[in-house]
Amino acid sequence: QILILDFGSQYTQLIARRVRELDVYCEIHPFNKIPPLTADIKGVILSGSPCSVRDKGAPDLDLDIFRGKIPLLAVCYGAQLMAQKYGGNVTPSEIREYGRASLSHLDTHAALFKEMTHGSQVWMSHGDTIKELPEGFDIIASTPSVRIAAYKIQEEETYGIQFHPEVTHSTEGKNLLRNFVVQICDCSQDWTSDVFIDITVDELKKTIGPDRVVMGLSGGVDSSVAATLIHRAIGDQLTCVFVDNGLLRKNEFEEVLDSYKDMGLNVIGVDARQKFYDALKGISDPEGKRKAIGRTFIEVFDQEAHKIQGVKWLGQGTIYPDIIESVSVNGPSATIKSHHNVGGLPDFMNLKVVEPLKTLFKDGVREVGKALDIADTIIGRHPFPGPGLGIRILGDITPEKVQTLQEVDHIFIQGLKDAGLYDQVWQAGAILLPIQSVGVMGDERTYERVVALRAVSSVDGMTADWIHLPYEFLGKISNDIINKVKGVNRVVYDISSKPPATIEWE
Ligand code: XMP
Repeated sequence: QILILDFGSQYTQLIARRVRELDVYCEIHPFNKIPPLTADIKGVILSGSPCSVRDKGAPDLDLDIFRGKIPLLAVCYGAQLMAQKYGGNVTPSEIREYGRASLSHLDTHAALFKEMTHGSQVWMSHGDTIKELPEGFDIIASTPSVRIAAYKIQEEETYGIQFHPEVTHSTEGKNLLRNFVVQICDCSQDWTSDVFIDITVDELKKTIGPDRVVMGLSGGVDSSVAATLIHRAIGDQLTCVFVDNGLLRKNEFEEVLDSYKDMGLNVIGVDARQKFYDALKGISDPEGKRKAIGRTFIEVFDQEAHKIQGVKWLGQGTIYPDIIESVSVNGPSATIKSHHNVGGLPDFMNLKVVEPLKTLFKDGVREVGKALDIADTIIGRHPFPGPGLGIRILGDITPEKVQTLQEVDHIFIQGLKDAGLYDQVWQAGAILLPIQSVGVMGDERTYERVVALRAVSSVDGMTADWIHLPYEFLGKISNDIINKVKGVNRVVYDISSKPPATIEWE
């Protein structure tokens, strides 16, 4: 495997994804918590960072641990750190070095650049530049404005690059990473979904043994794939619980429950709608609603779990981005991202946790799901928040408002599917606004609700942009909604990106 040491760059996860795309396993660790260098670690990549190597207290690392012993690729900040530590000179850039650049000089004899072309486009993003290299470091690439765009240390498989091969705008970046990971580090490209499934199922069998496992399903891809893997390992020792919290999409409870049963999962469907509505009564504050929903979910789930004799484990669909320790920009202290899976782990249940997907990214989860023959309707599902429509009804929640929003949402989502647009959208939904507006229907003045439609493109939900849906499509959906859903007389389309907005309105 490849070890990626993170200095806090926004692109670190992207490096890991690219390596995984080469069917090579890798892990990200914070630069100040290096795991033991076992024989299965074949190479190390140092990430970029929002810090400058010239800052007091900037992230630092003893590079002698790796140099000359294991192939090392230092990206951006990593490359600057290495140059500076061994006697080179790093200064603030005189001209801006962000965005597109071309490798006008490229040493194609360097193993790192095998089969790459002169003039190759790369993506730069740095405020500092390497002015002088230490002795024994050779320049192997330059751009018109950056003389030291890449270097190699003589007699070592140690490389530094100023640009970011992991972003798609570096057009031959994947070649470069393949050269490093496969040619230089000699990693075998055998980290496929099938291998992952075999290894994971084996491990699950050993870990769980004859015990019983309970797991909450949400209808989403992560929990569905996790449950299928656990089911493969231990069959009916797994019991799944799927709760209707009254905040799901139209017909979702029945449809998803049926697909789970078709998949052979032993699943208990619980109609807890009224319990959730009671808990939410009169609460308008978004965090208050999230807490009420989370608390109620745990109550319902706990009640169901206690009905199953001798449960020892809780299965969860946690994925890699939920658990990567991210490096804090303000210092070397590492913080763990909190993740908001449905309900989280109820501590008082005293169950051990099993999380078979915790090494995978979302796209990896989808691939494993496909290899497990899970239906496209589940694998290709848009993400849907745990609190469901509860955070898409702004203000307090009533069953009537839920029903109105379900109808609106259904017209929109079905419309996207019918128009062949659903798979081009990362996430879509409708929001019921707490305002009324004046309209006219026939000869009558109306004073009814406004709904907003939202459809975004994204890779991981961290950043997102609104999708330019065709006007004709939006017009048709707007007409359908206003004509078919009682109490709605106006539809607006959200054209905000994230940041500065978020995907959800609450
Ligand atoms: P935001 O609104 O923060 O959303 O841009 C990013 C992604 O996270 C989902 N989301 C949630 N998921 N519980 C969840 O399980 C939540 O409380 C929650 N809030 C937002 C959102 O749908 C989007 O995919």
